[in-house]
Amino acid sequence: MSEPSTKICCIGAGYVGGPTMAMIAKQCPDIEVNVVDINESRIAAWNSDLLPIYEPGLDEVVKEARGRNLFFSTDVSAAIKSADMIFISVNTPTKTFGIGTGRAANLEFVEKCAREIALHADGHKIVIEKSTLPVRTAEAVKRILSSASNENATFDVLSNPEFLAEGTAVEDLLAPDRVLIGGESQEAIDRLAAVYGRWVNPENILKTNLWSSELSKLTANAFLAQRVSSINAISALCEATGADVDEVANAIGTDSRIGPKFLKSSVGFGGSCFQKDILNLVYLCEHFGLPEVAAYWEQVVLMNDYQKRRFSTAVVKTMFNTVSDKKIAIWGFAFKKDTNDTRESPAIYVCRDLLEERARLTIYDPKVSLEQVKQELVYLMTSENGTLSEKHRQLIDENVEVADSASAATTGAHAIAVLTEWDEFKDIDFHSVYSSMKKPAFLFDGRNLLDREKLSKIGFEVYATGKS
Ligand SMILES: NC(=O)c1ccc[n+]([C@@H]2O[C@H](COP(=O)([O-])OP(=O)(O)OC[C@H]3O[C@@H](n4cnc5c(N)ncnc54)[C@H](O)[C@@H]3O)[C@@H](O)[C@H]2O)c1
Repeated sequence: MSEPSTKICCIGAGYVGGPTMAMIAKQCPDIEVNVVDINESRIAAWNSDLLPIYEPGLDEVVKEARGRNLFFSTDVSAAIKSADMIFISVNTPTKTFGIGTGRAANLEFVEKCAREIALHADGHKIVIEKSTLPVRTAEAVKRILSSASNENATFDVLSNPEFLAEGTAVEDLLAPDRVLIGGESQEAIDRLAAVYGRWVNPENILKTNLWSSELSKLTANAFLAQRVSSINAISALCEATGADVDEVANAIGTDSRIGPKFLKSSVGFGGSCFQKDILNLVYLCEHFGLPEVAAYWEQVVLMNDYQKRRFSTAVVKTMFNTVSDKKIAIWGFAFKKDTNDTRESPAIYVCRDLLEERARLTIYDPKVSLEQVKQELVYLMTSENGTLSEKHRQLIDENVEVADSASAATTGAHAIAVLTEWDEFKDIDFHSVYSSMKKPAFLFDGRNLLDREKLSKIGFEVYATGKS
């Protein structure tokens, strides 16, 4: 096997590029890792004590390697020139314009990276797709690289999708279920495998062809989201029939063919990946003339939309069909616990619905600021019809505030809506929360996090997803 690479460049210092490269640098002290990004404030934050993303255990990993063999900078061209391996880890959001709007992945940022690499590369480079991409993107990347200005520049392109989950990124990177490497050059595959092989069992390093690797990432996210939508579909039936969704999940999850994970019913899945990747899969199926397959997967997203809307409707209906001028405490705004990421969080949709009903929202999330909340609401309300109406602007400005603790958010509130499963919500003094609220005091548990019986005994009127 060839010598492992000694210099890595990663383009994109986001939720994937930052933690992944920090882990490589920590595990391989002799490999220089340069993480570059065009976003100056993000790079400044990576170089500070307050990292731009929150992940349990990440501070320690970064502190150990930063300045030793891990560097964050905005000098993209220098990092490309000096590296043997270049990871592309930029965002691939859903297109919001032109052909494939609302479905296809916007590959603009990936293409720009490929062009930058083609422009600055000298010598042999292994270019690694770390971003989640539509199957056959490597073909386009290879074509762009083949136009490199320097004739000494040669390339191998690999696909190495990332399977980490936000909130457990450090654990996942430290002990991944598998590392997937797809490519055409065995030598390039082996060189990348040798980097991961420093700490990952070789049996867990899977090697495939390029297209299988690209498609496996989209498929993995589609399957995970499908489980959430499946149990959420059953949660609606539970509410109608008197069955309990947690009992059903437990009963089916003990079947070893089904397994217990990803069977927690909730207000819906969120995050930057699931919806975008399924829509991308739907677009690909349509593109390849497979409308039935496209319709099958699209239903996973439609069910998720239904679940979010069902939750907000339940809030309004339960509170005597009006929440106008009522204060609602929103517990949690991040798309899941242990992250500050709010992209596509179900909380944004629920808050939008409640604001449209003229509710007053007091939000508490340990890792999310008022600015971030407002940005998400403005983004959602603008993207719906292209402009932010004066009415929506006013609702966001006047009816949204944040509190600095979960209990502070509830003072004088008519209801609490639990929208993120932060552990701290389980340890709240619910007696004092209850006494500080208007009566009847409603509690809508969108994560089935809290002890419903205990809360009912205190006096709360509790609505929990999938429970009649
Ligand atoms: N977030 C996750 O949990 C996760 C998990 C697995 C895979 N992925 C995939 O990984 C990719 C990155 O996701 P993310 O969450 O890290 O995105 P992100 O938005 O957090 O980070 C992407 C970064 O790339 C930078 N960037 C964009 N174009 C650039 C360019 N031309 N040069 C330099 N920097 C550039 C942006 O400024 C941004 O900081 C996506 O394809 C995503 O689908 C994400």
